[in-house]
Amino acid sequence: MFKLNKLIISASIAASAALFMTACNGDDTSTAGASHSGATASAVAYTNGKAVIDGGTTYPVINGKTSDYVIDKQAESETFNYGRTPTANEIAAWDTDVTHIKLPPEGSGSVEEGEELYEEKCVMCHGDFGSGGGGYPSLSKGNAVELQKTLTNQRFDPDADGPSRFFGSYWPQASTMWWYIHDGMPHPMTKSLSVDETYALTAYMLNINEMVVDGVEVDDDYVLDQEKFAKIVMPNVDGFEPEIRGKDGVENVRAYFQVASNFGGQKVNPSERCMKDCLEPTAKATYISGTGISDFLPPMATVRDLPKAEGGFDAKAAYESNCAMCHASYLAPGSSDWKGYTAHGMDQVYAKGIAGTEGGMPPKGGSSLSDKDFKTLVDYMVSGK
Ligand code: HEC
Ligand code: HEC
Repeated sequence: MFKLNKLIISASIAASAALFMTACNGDDTSTAGASHSGATASAVAYTNGKAVIDGGTTYPVINGKTSDYVIDKQAESETFNYGRTPTANEIAAWDTDVTHIKLPPEGSGSVEEGEELYEEKCVMCHGDFGSGGGGYPSLSKGNAVELQKTLTNQRFDPDADGPSRFFGSYWPQASTMWWYIHDGMPHPMTKSLSVDETYALTAYMLNINEMVVDGVEVDDDYVLDQEKFAKIVMPNVDGFEPEIRGKDGVENVRAYFQVASNFGGQKVNPSERCMKDCLEPTAKATYISGTGISDFLPPMATVRDLPKAEGGFDAKAAYESNCAMCHASYLAPGSSDWKGYTAHGMDQVYAKGIAGTEGGMPPKGGSSLSDKDFKTLVDYMVSGK
């Protein structure tokens, strides 16, 4: 009777119940273990007898119902009378993603154009030359081929150098970079970049990762186009397992996940407890407290080597290049939303703008403006003039 009850409650409850029993009732671990494995039957196969490919578990079927959820057979067999078949044009309009077997559309862009775009639209978050930091990802840490060699580094003590995982060193395909930028960046204004601009930014990414394409160094004069894009080979192209490309891809995945030790899994005998020389946890955990991330320290690059504008301070231009990427839609110049902030006096608004806030305002907006210019700029934003 006991076992039958276990079978119809959810697998995770059964699992914790089994753990609970193991912990409390040292003599009875084998019984608890047995009822646990009964509840999460691990016949990992589809009905056609082939093993599932993701290492997943299937749950026992009782009275025609699986123990975790019930499939509504009636809904499956109904005919639906809404919607319509999309047209070929509609499908083509959706089908815009770029993958390692689907090139980006034709176009081109140079490293030089990419760098200009980067300074205008990306640097405030990703830092000078993609240095990243403070929660925003680095886009480069130097020579991709050299850094790729660090991927096998193991961190045996807290100060050891771990693997460097960045676009150049880690990503197996450049198509992801092209598509990520085109579809998802710049963060506050996605899908705003043209095809040529995306080529230019991708070229710049290759450049700061010191890459070579088809024997040619991606230097400052490099122009990337679709033809050259097709020839990019990332240093870590073979760094992932299992091999999913080619006609044996699915079978490779299937075989791989049948062996737990391939992906860090290990067999644990729950009746054996570590009594001496046990490993102590040493990793430091970072906690997120309250409503925000408490140790959030944007931005990344605080030093800028951009040429200083000549003549007097132009608040509008400074806004466009330092603040608009976030403040165009939120707390825009002259917007009445500023009232909530200015209610406590301008001195506080200046001070918080300079120091940054946990709510996502980087210190001075990530700019290297002087305090005086920053305040002028805040006045401009609050008043809209
Ligand atoms: C307002 C801040 C912001 C701006 C501006 C911005 N990004 Fe990002 N970017 C992010 C954040 C945050 C992530 C991480 C997103 C995630 O992991 O979900 C990211 C991720 C990326 C990634 C993926 C990196 C990785 O290793 O996962 C790339 C590539 C990238 N950005 C490129 C760009 C480019 C090119 C631009 C300029 C056109 C740009 N970003 C502008 C905030 C920004
Ligand atoms: C990466 C995005 C980002 C950039 C770039 C940015 N801001 Fe902000 N800013 C924010 C967010 C988000 C808030 C709201 C923060 C909050 O409520 O804590 C904010 C708030 C402020 C505030 C109000 C601070 C307060 O709590 O009283 C001022 C002033 C301000 N920004 C000025 C600027 C100026 C000037 C620039 C350009 C030099 C700039 N910001 C660039 C995201 C940004």
